[in-house]
Amino acid sequence: MKVYSILLEGFRNYASFEAEFSDTVNVIAGNNAQGKTNLLEAVYFLSAGRSFRARTDRELIHFDRDGAHIRADIDSGGRGHRLEAFLHRTKRRQFLSNGVRLKTASALSGKLRTVLFCPDDLNLIREGAAVRRRLMDGCLCQLRPRYAEALTEYNRILEHKTRILRDYHQKPSLLETLDDFNLRMAQMGAQLIYYRAAYAALLAEKAAVIHREFSGGSETLSVRYLTVKTIEDPAKKPAELLEPLLEHLKTHRRAELETGTCLSGAHKDDLEILINGTPARTFASQGQARTAALSLKLAERDIHFADAGEYPVLLLDDVLSELDPKRQSFVLNRINEGQVFITCCDEVSLLPGTGGRLLRIAGGRLA
Ligand SMILES: Nc1ncnc2c1ncn2[C@@H]1O[C@H](COP(=O)(O)OP(=O)(O)OP(=O)(O)O)[C@@H](O)[C@H]1O
Ligand SMILES: [Mg+2]
Repeated sequence: MKVYSILLEGFRNYASFEAEFSDTVNVIAGNNAQGKTNLLEAVYFLSAGRSFRARTDRELIHFDRDGAHIRADIDSGGRGHRLEAFLHRTKRRQFLSNGVRLKTASALSGKLRTVLFCPDDLNLIREGAAVRRRLMDGCLCQLRPRYAEALTEYNRILEHKTRILRDYHQKPSLLETLDDFNLRMAQMGAQLIYYRAAYAALLAEKAAVIHREFSGGSETLSVRYLTVKTIEDPAKKPAELLEPLLEHLKTHRRAELETGTCLSGAHKDDLEILINGTPARTFASQGQARTAALSLKLAERDIHFADAGEYPVLLLDDVLSELDPKRQSFVLNRINEGQVFITCCDEVSLLPGTGGRLLRIAGGRLA
């Protein structure tokens, strides 16, 4: 998986920008606020169909423009491919693959695979469950187009159901549709849980190997998938997960109506991370938690490799500067295959002897 070149028109602080990339390491260097992260964001956008930090398309469009165009020429599975996104202030965004318009963002799934790694990810272990669900979702949406579709639909239902639970006091007739929403939610949730269980098993396997190496053999990392309590074996087929999901919804119905929130479903899932058998979220030291987070992120890359036979594009945003020299060199040694984009303010130490390209960015231009 490689990005050969990119063109940006009116994206963030890039009025008009074109660049070609090395198929090994690309160091994106520059002072603060020059557009380094924006460049990674553009690559990520074509991969995931959304930004990792903007909530609306408007944020992504240059202040002085009405629209933005991102275009990348990539290699995917040995074949050349052109991916494009058009963003507008007043219309819906559009994606094109080799000039053909895609119906949904989910259709992008898997075309350009990326793993993004930013300083926030170092808090993966200690933060709330939402960040770990995002880890699962981010990877699975790229691996399985059907997962991306199910997740979009699940979130739509969840939003709708939340409105019902909030507004039914004023409008009791809303409650007539609640059972339908619960059924639909359980159906989509069963899909998510089925895929997540398989993903968590893979993550557990790959992360354990990396973490063992990382800790010099002294620590064992395990990953456990936590989902709705009534499900005994989340690895069962979705059809078999439906019954326990509906059961759980039923027993939580009253509490949901009383609290006005959705208490039952896959949107509460989590990954429990254990180091030497102890829950890392509560007991790991700061350093242990960081190492474990690195192991999980690096494992994500290996999962893509196992699935597609090639490494995803790795986007490292400011993460190396956050690490001590030992962890830095562990990461750099582990990622010497595949294409990598690294942003940093001080480029000197990062570019390896051979290959690789240094791009200096200043004010949304190549300096
Ligand atoms: N829609 C937009 N239109 C124009 N400029 C924008 C837009 N969105 C963000 N910017 C500008 O982009 C700059 C931030 O770019 P970016 O986040 O890529 O910085 P960076 O080079 O990664 O900096 P740092 O080293 O601090 O992380 C800011 O100056 C911001 O004002
Ligand atoms: Mg940045």
